[in-house]
Amino acid sequence: MPRLYESRKRILVTGGAGFLGSHLIDHLLEKGHEVLCVDNLFTGTKRNLEHLHAQPRFEFIRHDVTFPLYVEADEIYNLACPASPIHYQHDPVQTTKTSVHGAINMLGLAKRLRCRILQASTSEIYGDPTVHPQTENYWGNVNSIGPRSCYDEGKRCAETLFFDYHRQHGLEIKVARIFNTYGPRMHPSDGRVVSNFIVQALKREAITLYGDGKQTRSFCYVDDLVDGLIRFMDSPAAFTGPVNLGNPAEFTMIELAELVLKETESSSPLTRQPLPQDDPKQRQPDIALAKKHLGWSPRVDLRQGLKPTISYFRSLLSDVGVIG
Ligand SMILES: NC(=O)c1ccc[n+]([C@@H]2O[C@H](COP(=O)([O-])OP(=O)(O)OC[C@H]3O[C@@H](n4cnc5c(N)ncnc54)[C@H](O)[C@@H]3O)[C@@H](O)[C@H]2O)c1
Repeated sequence: MPRLYESRKRILVTGGAGFLGSHLIDHLLEKGHEVLCVDNLFTGTKRNLEHLHAQPRFEFIRHDVTFPLYVEADEIYNLACPASPIHYQHDPVQTTKTSVHGAINMLGLAKRLRCRILQASTSEIYGDPTVHPQTENYWGNVNSIGPRSCYDEGKRCAETLFFDYHRQHGLEIKVARIFNTYGPRMHPSDGRVVSNFIVQALKREAITLYGDGKQTRSFCYVDDLVDGLIRFMDSPAAFTGPVNLGNPAEFTMIELAELVLKETESSSPLTRQPLPQDDPKQRQPDIALAKKHLGWSPRVDLRQGLKPTISYFRSLLSDVGVIG
């Protein structure tokens, strides 16, 4: 039967109640699509979706992607997976299952529907990189038996599955390697550095620096990242990736802490703790491939992106009475 709205797609977003997924859903709905969000609410929350309550083109299913799913869709974005070390190390076996069984189930669904599928992979697949900045053809330096391995190796195996489904079954795949992203709706206690520093600064608590604070990270604002994901999904079939999506501007943890203190007008002191095991010292994306194939590069700099992020945490903490 011909579709009533030819340009309107039915899009499945797994992990849609989480930080990135909920922003992705907002953007897809704005473009006029129908969105089906699948999430087991492990780290995601209905609060991230409550503004969509009356949106007729939006649907939510509570489901764990480690179990098969039978729905109809024109495209799949596979984002389901806890993303912060605190959360993914909470139940490491389930983390690997989510990446690996989740990928098998979603790829199986895409194969049945003959639809395009995008994987939210990660810069963690580069491990503690010996090449800087990281290009997509770098194979990584990853520990297979450490506390972070459930996430890193799970995501690596998911990439393998995506490319095998592509070669073996001709499936249209897109593999995005996402670097540190921040913005409103991040989990306030997930231990990620941007949310940690902001929450500590707003609560006037000491800001925790690990190691000497000279390790660097690059931070991408969520709107830029979501724009990159949608451009990638809409790009020609031959461009499968993997492609790095992130902001190459690099900051030391000390620089980030100082910026957060300034933007929150906080006088919290800095305190030091030992570096966690397998914590990478440097992480910076080479985004030449994304620029070339997607015409994409981030537009929001760290200072600009911190403002709405700080406002979000300020209202979240005052809603629950943690700050005045
Ligand atoms: N945020 C980043 O900086 C970043 C960086 C690299 C990669 N990624 C990837 O992007 C994706 C989204 O990350 P995020 O930052 O939004 O994290 P998040 O924890 O906020 O979102 C993940 C979502 O997946 C859901 N989920 C977890 N296990 C599930 C399961 N078994 N079945 C169904 N749902 C499940 C959670 O409830 C949550 O809503 C993840 O796959 C993550 O690995 C994120």
